[in-house]
Amino acid sequence: MAERPVHVAVTGAAGQIGYAIVFRIASGQLLGPDQPVVLRMLEIEPAMKALEGVAMELEDCAFPLLHDMELTSKAEEAFDGVSWALLVGSVPRKAGMERGDLLSVNGGIFGPQGKAIAAKAAHDVRILVVGNPCNTNCLIARLNAPDIPAERWFAMTRLDENRAKSQLAKKAKVPVSVVSNMAIWGNHSATQYPDARNARIAGTPVYDVISDHGWLKDKFIETVQKRGAAVIEARGLSSAGSAANAAIDSINSIRNATAWGDWTSLAVVSHGEYGTPEGLQFGFPVRSTGKGWEVVEGIEHDDDAKERIRKTTEELLQERDLVKELVPAG
Ligand code: NAD
Ligand code: LMR
Repeated sequence: MAERPVHVAVTGAAGQIGYAIVFRIASGQLLGPDQPVVLRMLEIEPAMKALEGVAMELEDCAFPLLHDMELTSKAEEAFDGVSWALLVGSVPRKAGMERGDLLSVNGGIFGPQGKAIAAKAAHDVRILVVGNPCNTNCLIARLNAPDIPAERWFAMTRLDENRAKSQLAKKAKVPVSVVSNMAIWGNHSATQYPDARNARIAGTPVYDVISDHGWLKDKFIETVQKRGAAVIEARGLSSAGSAANAAIDSINSIRNATAWGDWTSLAVVSHGEYGTPEGLQFGFPVRSTGKGWEVVEGIEHDDDAKERIRKTTEELLQERDLVKELVPAG
């Protein structure tokens, strides 16, 4: 095996999403079939025993690509030398809560983790924040790590994109693989705007394929916005398999060039695109070259879309205001 191992940190590795993702990383689904990995798994003290069980199971899989494992409750050890950091560890919401309600519980986790990443991670580190509310948690961590370029920080809106694609495919009675250009704008919350206006089915605008425009304008948007709550209601636990899958998809779509003409959904630092306030961690359509990425420019929005984007922006500004104590001034 010629490749040097890449170190990947997963926080909250004994949790639901952690348990669903570490086996996929170790089997090569994150970084490819030729890339050995070292898994660096972070947990809080009370979960260390459970984490040891996860590590035993990983060992029992005899994954050829799993070069080594590190189990720790110290952030600086977990992020030592990592090229990818998946920040999952945090408390999920329960039925009846909005994701933003978690800010006071989870926000405090992400400043220290941002500092630890800045102190210890590899020079090429890239970070995906999954723990909710993920846009603002990502903003907290990023602002606590000013030496790491802002473009290396991502929050996860891919699960919303995947949900939206599946809803459109079901409605149009087509395979999900032919749905493309599905952007999620703004916050990973009930204010997000899943943009079917600019999405395509087999290359044709969705609005030309699905004639039920009433459904597209209301029910579709609401279903995607509230899908996380619907899963919690049904399972009594928040989504885990689909969230782990979306995290793998997110990183693959950062690492690999986006298919020609398509885009993917990631919450990235705003440089003012589409009038969004600079510095917010905002869900945009993004195109990757594999080496870098850019927000797709020139997408048109009607008045309804503009109003929805205004609302989700407003919510992210409010969240940013709520956490100002958790980020360095200036
Ligand atoms: P979980 O409770 O099953 O697991 C979370 C794990 O994190 C636990 O094992 C806990 O011990 C650990 N943890 C808590 N604080 C930690 C810290 N400071 N450092 C390291 N580990 C810590 O929860 P889950 O279902 O795996 O969900 C994790 C998070 O992901 C939640 O915030 C949830 O809302 C979020 N989530 C986001 C998306 C998304 O699309 N962005 C999707 C699903 C879930
Ligand atoms: C999801 O979208 O499933 C997650 O963000 C979990 C949640 O609280 O909805």
